Amino acid sequence: MRCDQTPAWKALTAHAAQATGFDLRTAFAADPQRAHTLSQTAPHVLADLSKNHVDAATEALLQELARQTGLAAHRDAMFRGEHINSTEDRAVMHWLLRQPEGSLGGDLAEPLAQVHGTLQPMLAYAETVRADAQITDVVNIGIGGSDLGPQMAVLALQDFVIPGKRFHFVSNVDGHELAAVLAQLKPANTLFVVASKSFATLDTMTNARSALAWFKAQGCTDVGRHFAALTTNVAAAAEFGIRTTFGFWDWVGGRYSVWSAIGLPVAIAIGAQGFRDFLAGAHAMDQHFQTAPIEENLPVRLGLLDVWYRNFLNYTSRSIAPYHSALRRWPAFLQQLEMESNGKRVDRNGQALPYATSPVLWGEPGTNGQHAYFQMLHQGSDVVPLEFIAVKKPTHSLKNHHELLLANAIAQAQALMQGKSDEGGHKHFSGNRPSTFLLLDELTPASLGAMIALQEHRVFVSGSVWGINSFDQWGVELGKVLAQDIHARMASGDGAGLDASTAGLLARLR
Ligand code: F6P
Repeated sequence: MRCDQTPAWKALTAHAAQATGFDLRTAFAADPQRAHTLSQTAPHVLADLSKNHVDAATEALLQELARQTGLAAHRDAMFRGEHINSTEDRAVMHWLLRQPEGSLGGDLAEPLAQVHGTLQPMLAYAETVRADAQITDVVNIGIGGSDLGPQMAVLALQDFVIPGKRFHFVSNVDGHELAAVLAQLKPANTLFVVASKSFATLDTMTNARSALAWFKAQGCTDVGRHFAALTTNVAAAAEFGIRTTFGFWDWVGGRYSVWSAIGLPVAIAIGAQGFRDFLAGAHAMDQHFQTAPIEENLPVRLGLLDVWYRNFLNYTSRSIAPYHSALRRWPAFLQQLEMESNGKRVDRNGQALPYATSPVLWGEPGTNGQHAYFQMLHQGSDVVPLEFIAVKKPTHSLKNHHELLLANAIAQAQALMQGKSDEGGHKHFSGNRPSTFLLLDELTPASLGAMIALQEHRVFVSGSVWGINSFDQWGVELGKVLAQDIHARMASGDGAGLDASTAGLLARLR
């Protein structure tokens, strides 16, 4: 049943109307158990949800909504390999990429065997590159899911990265990006990894062609040794002239693909065992999502909280604050994951929806954000739920820093909630601003894997309740087609048939 037609949705609407005066400070004073009941452990992570605008009654109604919209059945359909990506008639099985070898029977036994049959040579190749002292630079050429996941993970796991190799990520068709990277390279010491699920994305193919031309222009011919491709379109990679190819399958969405061959730069950076640990952390979260009762299921609790905020309290965005500089691309990664998955205005059958879906995600690492836009979070006219991530153990030995960093994270969450009312006007903080606090003991391949899988499943939960297909991305197509038309007109400046603004810009920029 569509979510807004369920009894639970109506009950939540009434509950939200009653809860307009909800105050976190009062809620904590009234319930000494609040921090406990609204905390949830899951593999590698503790989530303190207690500073959110929810109470036990809200959560119970949201869980009812999950039941009435068939969340568990939809989840189980994904884990059975059903074609829940209906608009592309595809299964959604990124989770299979982290499933232990031989652990599934039936129809999934064969795809799982293929997964491991690809993973093993991919990891062996990663080890060969690691052992090859002549290769000092690895350049990933890819965009969207073929960039953000591996880039975020290599940065996040910088303490595990093999010394003596540099990792570069070129995504933008803007030649400034590739030119700046090429200027640092010697062809004989470079491995280019062309990462593209489709092997057709214009940005990536343009960068790959330019990298190949640069390589050849310096008299280098050994493309086999210096170029590798990661793609579901192995034939297109061969046509491009790349021999070393690692494939994956159409049932892996781009933004869910870091676990596949697209993870090769991560595997080169942290090694085969590190990559296996990364997969194992994610698998542990898959099991939690599949087996924990919904009341104690962290992706479910987070996804339902997102629905509550978006549809009942009308909060339009969520800010992400990783208090760890290695997680600096985490907000960008989550932007694609959430907004490309759930930025939809029609249901799975293409019918327009009368309610809001994906929030806007944005953010920067703390403490930087504190000195930039936190002003708005504390005193702005919009309420923006903030999601903190903190890591207990640092990996550096500089004195004082980590205590200060963690103190800032806790203090910001406290300040957002407590506010300050002893002064008026400009110095008044209304408080009662919501936040979630995600805490890891350590930032490791396994804990990062678990955190990514947590976010994937949380996006699944809200998308499932909303009744949308979280696994297609038709909204990116129109701009691609129009760019080709405009590109063809760039040389002549031919504005025939274009609106006056587009024609005017074309004339000025040609
Ligand atoms: O245009 C959007 C998109 O298709 C994303 O979904 C994807 O992650 C990205 O482009 C890159 O696609 P590909 O890996 O096929 O080059």
